Amino acid sequence: MASVYEQVYRHSQDDPAGFWAQAAEPLYWHRRWDTVRDDRRPPFHRWFAGGEINTCYNCIDRHIDRGRGRQLALIYDSPVTGTVRRFTFEELRDEVARVAGALAAQGVTAGDRVVIYMPMVPEAVIGMLACARIGAVHSVVFGGFAPKELATRIDDARPRLILSASCGIEAGRVIPYKPLLDAAIDLASHKPERTIILQRPQAEAPLVAGRDLDWRETCDEAAPADCVPVAATDPLYILYTSGTTGIPKGVVRDNGGHAVALHWSMEHVYGVGAGEVYWAASDIGWVVGHSYIVYAPLLRGATTVLYEGKPVGTPDPGAFWRVIEQHGVSVLFTAPTAFRAIKKEDPDGAFMKRHDLSRFRTLFLAGERCDPDTLHWARERLGVPVIDHWWQTETGWAIAANCVGLGTLPVKPGSPTRAVPGYDVRILDDEGKEMPRGQIGSIVIKLPMPPGCLPTLWHNDAGYEESYLSRYPGCYLTGDAGYMDDDGYLYIMSRVDDIINVAGHRLSTGAMEEALAFHPDVAECAVVGVADDLKGEVPVGFVVTKAGVARGADEIVPELVERVRASIGPVAAFKQAAIVARLPKTRSGKILRGTVKKIADGQPYTTPATIDDPAILDEMAEALRGLGYPKGAA
Ligand code: COA
Ligand code: AMP
Repeated sequence: MASVYEQVYRHSQDDPAGFWAQAAEPLYWHRRWDTVRDDRRPPFHRWFAGGEINTCYNCIDRHIDRGRGRQLALIYDSPVTGTVRRFTFEELRDEVARVAGALAAQGVTAGDRVVIYMPMVPEAVIGMLACARIGAVHSVVFGGFAPKELATRIDDARPRLILSASCGIEAGRVIPYKPLLDAAIDLASHKPERTIILQRPQAEAPLVAGRDLDWRETCDEAAPADCVPVAATDPLYILYTSGTTGIPKGVVRDNGGHAVALHWSMEHVYGVGAGEVYWAASDIGWVVGHSYIVYAPLLRGATTVLYEGKPVGTPDPGAFWRVIEQHGVSVLFTAPTAFRAIKKEDPDGAFMKRHDLSRFRTLFLAGERCDPDTLHWARERLGVPVIDHWWQTETGWAIAANCVGLGTLPVKPGSPTRAVPGYDVRILDDEGKEMPRGQIGSIVIKLPMPPGCLPTLWHNDAGYEESYLSRYPGCYLTGDAGYMDDDGYLYIMSRVDDIINVAGHRLSTGAMEEALAFHPDVAECAVVGVADDLKGEVPVGFVVTKAGVARGADEIVPELVERVRASIGPVAAFKQAAIVARLPKTRSGKILRGTVKKIADGQPYTTPATIDDPAILDEMAEALRGLGYPKGAA
């Protein structure tokens, strides 16, 4: 007999309209949809067309209406400031309504964009929900990005207003955010009318008269704003992510499909019920933070944890276990890199044993490939199921997972299990033909994708089609390569583009190459993601200097490192580069980054037939040895 998962998966494929209409029922609709999926303008399929909804209402007010007002909605736990703050649904509603009122008083209305550049403080979540409340479109920018990256996003989103804070706090140091914001506004061509700045006591920031407003003064006394119904197809947010060029892509999320998909996922993928405590240890600047710190747990009526800290160093590798015990967390979602960091400092799990983890039920990992070592370590030490699941900013929720709420399937380490109901995943060869089981190809999702996935890129339908839909007509290109085994389990092996994954953070080596190319001594360059025990991958640069440059690596490399840090941000973790005489290329001039990566990782490689001079690979191996690659080689 088919498993529950198989039955539900079949239903989602055979009758997507019926399946998702049923999933939409528990939410509150100001106006019911006319069409569950509007296919009139393919490849732009729209979910719940004609419907009107408010995402904030469904995240907060709906639960208050149904008697959950006194239940905790949000727990802010900040080891870096020694603070814990708790908000019930009623308290969260009141805070959000006031900030929404303050935004409205500044002229922000439905459809206006609001950029949010904030650390992991409750006001950031409140700001996101306040935008949703009045139909404004938020665009959160991760705090580890440099002013230039923030400026690019400001110019694309064209916000009326920016929400920010005076500083962020990384383990052991305060990072003033306001100078970064000021620099970004200077760099951007689009100038927001206003900013609202949360002053944190660790580093207060001077405000620019006439432009910057103080958060407390502006929001605390503001008249609360009510929820504004918006079209289900209206944008809820824009989230920029690395693309194949240095220019980030503005992934759009709608209101209706997003709410339905995320609400469904909490029960069926994560197995979490209303009233439970759910913790996604990520950052609100990433998609995991949007979907699983903010929207999905609240849509479900669960309590969400907002953690301003790290897995290690705040203060020790027992930080996660302390939070789980203290707040009664049932389900944790984080990136494998966090577990590698914990494992490195506490290999025997001694810190874990000091805490009562009896309420902890399941660990979910995503954001990068989950190496079987980490999976086994976590499972053996924790004694709970460890579920790898695969997704990306564009989809907004899991494409493949072991759906705990549909009856857990057998775990195969190295695989995020099978396609989640709603997704039709295929593995294609270069010609678009399906690969036999077990063979690696390009992973695509057959259109139309389920609700929650990006309907387009911000003001860029053509870019959406070109980036994702043109390679294989009728399919969405995930950008990942991998295979499917005979049981339908997926294996995600690598990216097909220049995206690398550093500590679960998605970055473009193309953007780093752009930063290096601007150095006055650099003639050409390449950046390659090489394997790293802790971060999964780290970038390594290779530069060829211009003729006549006499300065050596000791002078140039620190400048290159500083350039990437200043241009992209510390999150790029670009710390190593070598000066080489030439770069390995094909005869047509394409740099052989894949081969360099294999040399660095100590993997077997074949010398490409198209290389213009095979001896260059020996030179690259020599340069890599100088940087300590392959790791562990004598
Ligand atoms: N604001 C400012 N700077 C930030 C920042 C922020 N919000 N987040 C990170 N940075 C800085 C860090 O301070 C660090 O700077 P440094 O080079 O001066 O030390 C740099 O960006 C890299 O940060 P990070 O990737 O966090 O590396 P780390 O060495 O500080 O910590 C881990 C390593 C594994 C502990 C950390 O990456 C981690 O906790 N990862 C969890 C995974 C995760 O959240 N993934 C998101 C998707 S699920
Ligand atoms: P992001 O858009 O930042 O969420 O990054 C998405 C990319 O991270 C995917 O396209 C994959 O390359 C990678 N990724 C995310 N989750 C997994 C996973 N479980 N296994 C392998 N790769 C993953």
